[in-house]
Amino acid sequence: MKQVKERRDDQTASDEEREDEQDLRQINIGLLGLGTVGTGVFRLIEQHQDDLQKQTGCKISVQKILIQNVAKERHIHVDEHLLTTDPNELIKDPDIDVIVEVMGGISNTKTYIAQALNEKKHVVTANKDLIALHGGELLTLASENECDLFYEASVAGGIPILRALVEGFSSDRVTKIIGILNGTTNYMLSKMSKDGLEYEDCLKQAQNLGYAEADPTSDVEGLDAARKIAILGTLGFHTELSLEEVDVRGISSVSKKDIDYGKEFGYELKLLATADRKNNEIELEVQPTFIPKTHPLAHVNDAFNAVFVQGEAMGETMFYGPGAGELPTATAVTSDLVTVVKNIKLGVNGRGTVAPYRLKKFKRKDNRYHRYFIRLIVEDEPGVLAVITQSLAQQNISVSKMVQKHYKEQQAEIVIITHEAAQQSFENWEKEMNLYSEKIEFASYYAVEGDDSR
Ligand code: NDP
Ligand code: HSE
Repeated sequence: MKQVKERRDDQTASDEEREDEQDLRQINIGLLGLGTVGTGVFRLIEQHQDDLQKQTGCKISVQKILIQNVAKERHIHVDEHLLTTDPNELIKDPDIDVIVEVMGGISNTKTYIAQALNEKKHVVTANKDLIALHGGELLTLASENECDLFYEASVAGGIPILRALVEGFSSDRVTKIIGILNGTTNYMLSKMSKDGLEYEDCLKQAQNLGYAEADPTSDVEGLDAARKIAILGTLGFHTELSLEEVDVRGISSVSKKDIDYGKEFGYELKLLATADRKNNEIELEVQPTFIPKTHPLAHVNDAFNAVFVQGEAMGETMFYGPGAGELPTATAVTSDLVTVVKNIKLGVNGRGTVAPYRLKKFKRKDNRYHRYFIRLIVEDEPGVLAVITQSLAQQNISVSKMVQKHYKEQQAEIVIITHEAAQQSFENWEKEMNLYSEKIEFASYYAVEGDDSR
């Protein structure tokens, strides 16, 4: 008897579900791109349709997909009628509610997104290059058209860091964001550290694994991380920051030797992207940086990303996860889509974005402090060390740790870790050392994060 009753309840539930489904409003999606991320978004919408419906109360349906090569073999079954090479079939179609841009590129993509917003379509994008360059302009256009424009996947792939900054920290004042935001370079530096490989070998491995592009410039020269920290800084500090305002140094001149010396001092080398705000003055930079092995960011290895956020009230928090890849990135894109659909149901699209409201002022070099790791190759003779340390003293730079080792013949290698020093003082000292280039070769330098010196 009980069994029959349970079956009836199930029956009723599924009848109700079927009726509900018929009543569900359908939200139509135009997908720009069916590559790595586009395929993931299509998969998630198909495979998680039930959950998406329960959470949004709407049926989400991909109606058209823009691609460039119709003959290309796809890793997923897609009805060929969905595919098109004509962007107008998505952007001008009045039945399409949301454009999901996962094709990449800047010029064409900006045009398509602007057209879509002017057609009153909401937009979700994973495109950090576009957002770092034209985000402000496109967000204004979205707001004028009462449309949503979301871009969670553009920074740190699967880590929901934009939402955490915008919503989780809304009652706090963010003072510092430090990110490992580029998976390719983190993979390479981890390999150099763990497996003792040289830079070129690690780059080849990263390319073979599909992390690094055939032209890896954007990753290894720090531009990818710079775009991402400009986006994070803008949201965290409520100040519009652009790519050109980030001081960028990549990892292409890092040697295994530097990493080995760092380890002797208890450090790991990471490409850190930092946005710092003190007394309303901002510092924005990407550079290879030594961090103590005890720092949580020192344990972020391989292609993983992490973001360390410090708030005046909150203190320190850290977010960790995959920074790229089909499904992690697609999760971020599809979650943005869920927010758009919920907003459509509530009729509040385009109203949630807070425009940057704080004045922008950058720290001057004489007010930007770092600790430094410096490696020098010097003639091993009386007076050379005195020249180095006297000049450091003149610039008010104090030495925290130092080692000297035999290098070759009459030469020695000196590694110095300084206490905090102004960037301007460090640059003055570096210039002065160049005057002694016959006896002192400036081999490398890095910033050192955290104070383990006293
Ligand atoms: P892919 O190169 O794998 O895919 C791009 C897709 O867009 C392809 O389907 C391609 O068509 C289509 N496409 C490209 N240009 C055009 C064009 N001019 N007209 C029509 N279709 C076009 O890129 P990803 O999926 O890797 O990246 C997409 C976006 O997501 C980029 O902005 C990227 O920065 C961002 N992103 C990617 C991550 C990742 O892990 N891959 C992580 C975080 C962000 P076709 O298939 O016919 O070649
Ligand atoms: N090239 C990027 C990386 C992909 O290596 O992290 C994700 O933006």
